Amino acid sequence: MEETPCGFNPRPAHQRDLAYAESFSVDIPPSPRYRRRAKGVILEELQRRLEKAGVWDWALEMEVRALWKYGVEPIRDERLRATVARFLGIVPLAFYTDVASKSGRFHPPWQRKRHGTLRSIVESCALLPGWARHIPEILDDRMEPDPRAVDLALAATIVSDVWKKEDAGDVHHGAEHGRVAAERWAPFARGEGLDAETVDAVADASVWHMGLYAPGWTRATVLTPITRLVNFPDVATSLSQLAIVYEGRTVIL
Ligand SMILES: [Fe+2]
Repeated sequence: MEETPCGFNPRPAHQRDLAYAESFSVDIPPSPRYRRRAKGVILEELQRRLEKAGVWDWALEMEVRALWKYGVEPIRDERLRATVARFLGIVPLAFYTDVASKSGRFHPPWQRKRHGTLRSIVESCALLPGWARHIPEILDDRMEPDPRAVDLALAATIVSDVWKKEDAGDVHHGAEHGRVAAERWAPFARGEGLDAETVDAVADASVWHMGLYAPGWTRATVLTPITRLVNFPDVATSLSQLAIVYEGRTVIL
C-alpha cells in the first residue's frame, strides 16, 4: 500500500504491527551449559514429542527454555511444579506453535507470530511475581507475597492457555479456553496425586483468568486474589498497545 506524502502509512494498526513482527528473527542457538543444567527428564520427553511432531526448532527451543525459566522453575512447591511440567507434556501441540490471536487483532505483534501463545504465557509469568506485590490479600506484614499464592498463580497462568485450540480439526475454544483447560487439568492433576485444594485453586483461576471478560462473569462474581494475580499479567501482556511500550519506533510507524 502506498504511503501518503507525509510518510504516514494508512494501513490498519494490526497490519503495520504484523509487518513489524516480520522484522524480528529469533535464531540464537541454545547454550551447551543450558543443555546440561536444565533439561530434566520431563523436558527431554517434551522435546522428543515436539521433535517427533516435526515442530521442534531453535526458535521453539528458546521459547520452551523461557517457559521453564519464568513459568515452571519458579514454582516452589515441588509436587505442583512437577505436575505442571508433566501436564505440559500432554497438552495440544498447537499450544507450542499457534499464534496468540486467531483474528490478528489482539496481542502485540510478536505474539501474533508462530509460538505466540507460548510467548504470551512466558511474558505473563515473567510479570507475575512483581505484580504479586500489589495484591494486598496475599502480602504478609513485611509486604512480601505469600509464596503459595504465587505458585498457584504461575500454575494457573500456564494451565489457562494450553487448550485454546485442539490439534484435530480446526477447533478453537474461544473465550471458553480457560474452562476447557481447567477441565483437562483437574483430572490429570488429581491422577498425579496433587491435593484437591491445590487442583481446584489452579482450575478456578484458569476458568476466571480473563477476569471481567471470562464467560459467565457478572457484577456479583467475586474474583479471588489468586485469580486477580493471574488476570492482570494476562491482560497486560495481551494488549496490542504493548508494541508502543516495547519498541519506541512503533509509535511513529
Ligand atoms: Fe487466555
